Amino acid sequence: KVVAVIMVGGPTKGTRFRPLSFNTPKPLFPLAGQPMVHHHISACKRIANLAEIFLIGFHEEREFALYVSSISMELNVPVRYLKEDRPHGSAGSLYYFRDVIMEDSPSHIFLLNCDVCCSFPLPDMLEAHKIYGGLGTMLVIKVSAESASQFGELVADPSTKELLHYTEKPETFVSDLINCGVYVFTPGIFTAIEDVSTHRQDRANLRRVSSFEALQSATRTHPTDFVRLDQDILSPLAGKKQLYTYETMDFWEQIKTPGMSLKCSGLYLHQFRFTSPHILASGDGTRSTTVVGDVYVHPSAKVHPTAKIGPDVSISANVRVGAGVRLINCIVLDDVEIKENAVVMNSIVGWKSSIGKWSRVQGDGDYNEKHGITILGEGVTVEDEVVVINCIVLQNKTLNVGVHEETIL
Ligand code: GDD
Repeated sequence: KVVAVIMVGGPTKGTRFRPLSFNTPKPLFPLAGQPMVHHHISACKRIANLAEIFLIGFHEEREFALYVSSISMELNVPVRYLKEDRPHGSAGSLYYFRDVIMEDSPSHIFLLNCDVCCSFPLPDMLEAHKIYGGLGTMLVIKVSAESASQFGELVADPSTKELLHYTEKPETFVSDLINCGVYVFTPGIFTAIEDVSTHRQDRANLRRVSSFEALQSATRTHPTDFVRLDQDILSPLAGKKQLYTYETMDFWEQIKTPGMSLKCSGLYLHQFRFTSPHILASGDGTRSTTVVGDVYVHPSAKVHPTAKIGPDVSISANVRVGAGVRLINCIVLDDVEIKENAVVMNSIVGWKSSIGKWSRVQGDGDYNEKHGITILGEGVTVEDEVVVINCIVLQNKTLNVGVHEETIL
């Protein structure tokens, strides 16, 4: 048997995702019309002998309850949300729930960061891991040398694929091969985490003897059960024939900002074209609306036949799109109204927002820039004939004059 664990983090980690994380936890933010974590879960579903999927985080349980029960039913695989009382670090939180995770004595445990977007080649990773042996295999990818420093950089043996060296977000360049945040482990991972924790406990006890104050400062920075997978486990185990790498040649991105969520929504829409084309709206189907490229339209949305949408557009529940509207590369969230002849491009339109007639809401489409796309928070009103370019607009604002490159608080 195999189980999968998805690290969903918690609210303190979501600040860069504002204003989209005020009411919806980031893991449930829709990409290509499906909650972010849905893409991980449906990838897990392709693993043979998958017994259960756990989401571990410190978000409120009620925020996940509905999603977890509906996806369990839909995919016919048990999905459970396990809530930590506080963050324990990426490895510490896995260890914290070891008894629940090991209940059915799985032979392998997949571990996936929630804030990554890729094709999740999980069955291939498992197969490779069985050949390599050792404690675990991690998904890696080559990126540009300039961007590598935002991730864990690593060196792998070109023939055996063994992880030889690992440094988390180094200041000086190590390698353009980086950690994708997707792993498969044997249950031995729990012993490795326990060792780090016990070692820390011993050191803390030593300090207690020498100075009470030192203990206090040590536990303030790192409680002994706070263990990071990258620095505390991967770095020390590199070069010990314990860890191996599996390189993906497919797409991979990390999602820390709303801009990246727009980019990843497009990547998943494109993937649907190959994996589940029935989810996409098509130009020749029952809809008379002109559809260009990869587009998702929720069945409850009402799109006027004279509107033109796509490529890379995702339209959520109960959205109304008026006559002559043009939508390009955008995410339109639940209950939005877009009135006649408005244009929305390179933007995210928040829940219950309203865009007036002949208005333009757009961004340059530079995903890495703070103002590279336009983001409207929940309940924003853009009045008729107003132009909004490269702006971040917080919830419940009304815009009646044009704005450019501003954050509207
Ligand atoms: N449940 C829980 N509890 N989840 C956590 C905790 C915790 O205490 N801390 C982090 N996470 C989750 C985050 O939500 C995220 O999904 C994942 O664990 C990793 O988060 P971080 O530890 O903050 O690392 P990072 O995202 O900056 O970088 C990691 O991922 C990159 C790939 O996206 C590193 O492993 C990098 O090396 C890697 O390149």
